[in-house]
This record gives sequence, structure tokens and C-alpha cells, in this order.
Amino acid sequence: MKKAGIKHDWITYIPVDYSNESWVDKLLGAGFDKTKKTLFLWQSVSLYLEADIVKETLRKMADLCVDGSIIAQDFYSKAFMLGEISKIAKKNMSIIEKMGEPWKFTINMSNDPKAAVESFLKECGLKMTEYIQFGEKLDIEPFYCIVEAEKL
Ligand SMILES: C[S@@+](CC[C@H](N)C(=O)[O-])C[C@H]1O[C@@H](n2cnc3c(N)ncnc32)[C@H](O)[C@@H]1O
Repeated sequence: MKKAGIKHDWITYIPVDYSNESWVDKLLGAGFDKTKKTLFLWQSVSLYLEADIVKETLRKMADLCVDGSIIAQDFYSKAFMLGEISKIAKKNMSIIEKMGEPWKFTINMSNDPKAAVESFLKECGLKMTEYIQFGEKLDIEPFYCIVEAEKL
């Protein structure tokens, strides 16, 4: 960002391991103002976590944010993780696994992907407000989606 000339002094970086630490305590300890509207952008992280951690993290985001806040994130399908959609992706996943970050969390998108994702978010105390599905136009099973949600 320095090289690109983008002002970044105002950004606070907080390292956290979602599986073993409280990101909420860390965020609040670093001065997070929970009275303000927030955009939680949790992109391509949940796939590396256990399902219970993903649920707990999303529930905590819902608890922490005021009305008007947005939680945005993506989800991969179970079939994609199993290598049923793309062999190249499966190969890349096994390389990443060897680097110590195996894929863990996905959603079964084989039947009604939108309903499956919506229902998962509901379990986390969230209402889906935007849903973008990848795969349909390629005439393959939907394998990935990006969503926006707000607290129920
Ligand atoms: C595919 S990258 C996405 C990074 C960034 N959000 C983006 O979209 O460019 C996945 C990130 O998840 C992080 N990650 C994996 N397991 C984690 C954990 N238990 N706690 C915190 N971060 C984790 C990895 O270190 C990596 O930075």
C-alpha cells in the first residue's frame, strides 16, 4: 500500500487464529466501536475452519454488529472440495493441504444451493440479503457463492 501511495496509517491489523483464540476479545481490545455500522468481509477463510467454528464466528459477528451492518463472505460446495467439479482445483487443494491448511468447511449445493446457504446462515442468526451463485452458466453444478447477510 505504501508503494501504491495508499494511505494506510489508520488501519489496525489484528492477528488471530479463529480455531484457538477469541477474535471478539481481540477486536474489542483494539478499540472496535460496536455502536457503528460495520462491514465484516470474511472472504475465503471459513473453508479452512471446522463447521462449529464457522457457525460460532458468524453468530458472534451477528451479536456484535448493530442494525445496518453487513456480513459478506463466500462458500464452496462439498462436491467442489471432493474434486467432483474440477480436477485442477482438487490438485491445488492437496498442495495447500501439504502447506498445512486443509479444506474443511463446505456446503452441500447439490440440490437447492440458495436454500442450503440461506438455511445455514439462518442457523447462525443471519438473514441472507444478497446471493451470487457461480457455476450455473457453465452448465456445471453450482460450486461457489458469494453472499451478503445481516443479523436476523
Ligand atoms: C484464501 S486466503 C484468503 C485471504 C483474504 N481474506 C483474501 O480474500 O484474500 C485464506 C486465509 O485464511 C487464513 N486462515 C486459515 N485458517 C485460519 C485460522 N484458523 N485462523 C485465522 N486465519 C486462518 C489463511 O492464513 C489465509 O490467510
